[in-house]
Amino acid sequence: MHDDDETMPPARRRWDPVVKLTHWAVVGAVLANALLTEEGSATHVWIGYALAAVLALRLLWGFVGPAEARFSAFLPNPARALAHVREIRAGGHTRHASHNPLGALMVYAIWSCLGVVIASGIAMAGLPGAVRAERHEPAVATAQVGGEREEEGEKDGRKDREGEEEGGLGEVHEAAVNLLYLLIVLHIAGVVFETRRSGRDVVLAMLPGRG
Ligand code: HEM
Ligand code: HEM
Repeated sequence: MHDDDETMPPARRRWDPVVKLTHWAVVGAVLANALLTEEGSATHVWIGYALAAVLALRLLWGFVGPAEARFSAFLPNPARALAHVREIRAGGHTRHASHNPLGALMVYAIWSCLGVVIASGIAMAGLPGAVRAERHEPAVATAQVGGEREEEGEKDGRKDREGEEEGGLGEVHEAAVNLLYLLIVLHIAGVVFETRRSGRDVVLAMLPGRG
């Protein structure tokens, strides 16, 4: 038996504050950019940078955090995921200190998808420093060319070129976002299913003040 499968498991799963905080920060950022911010706006992009930082923190935590938060506790393993499905069908209930093998595949799928969303978003918007520099550019352009019409022409030209470059990336961004939505629906369905099946407070374990 693998060492993250416990024969005498704790009554409930424990997640440390970093896992909890990064989970709900990711949820907040995804909801904000999906529902509240204007696509591609400065707020959308800054929430995107924050999302990237939060994800980076969680991934770092996968190397240095407590045992159940480490990648080593929930390595992606399709064979174990299949064994887990067989166990569900047989009515078995192995408890896992970290994500169960099926949940682990979902976690890596969500992280990969977020990675593509973030990478394509940053490829379109530039890194934080680049965004600031670009925002100052029109003022410089006005000073250099003087006339409003010429400045507009400059900006439009740049926009067209950027538009062409961003076309493909925008599609990648959108496709990854749509895949992310699908994974989120499956993730929540998985959480509900696991809660009913095991009778454990799966969601409460992810909320503040527990564990
Ligand atoms: C998970 C969070 C995110 C969601 C749900 C989301 C959603 C979207 C959607 C639906 C669009 C419109 C798609 C299109 O027309 O191409 C869009 C556009 C855009 N997003 Fe995001 N996004 C997220 C994260 C990010 C991040 C991390 C960045 C960069 C740091 C970013 C930067 C952009 C930019 C620059 C556009 C404009 C694309 C264009 O003008 O074609 N987004 N986003
Ligand atoms: C934008 C929506 C969501 C995303 C992107 C998301 C993503 C994730 C990720 C990446 C993990 C792994 C956490 C880690 O190891 O750091 C996770 C775990 C978890 N999420 Fe979500 N989540 C979302 C919404 C929700 C919602 C709405 C709930 C509550 C109903 C929820 C409940 C949980 C629980 C209970 C776990 C731990 C699962 C386990 O015990 O193995 N998530 N989620």
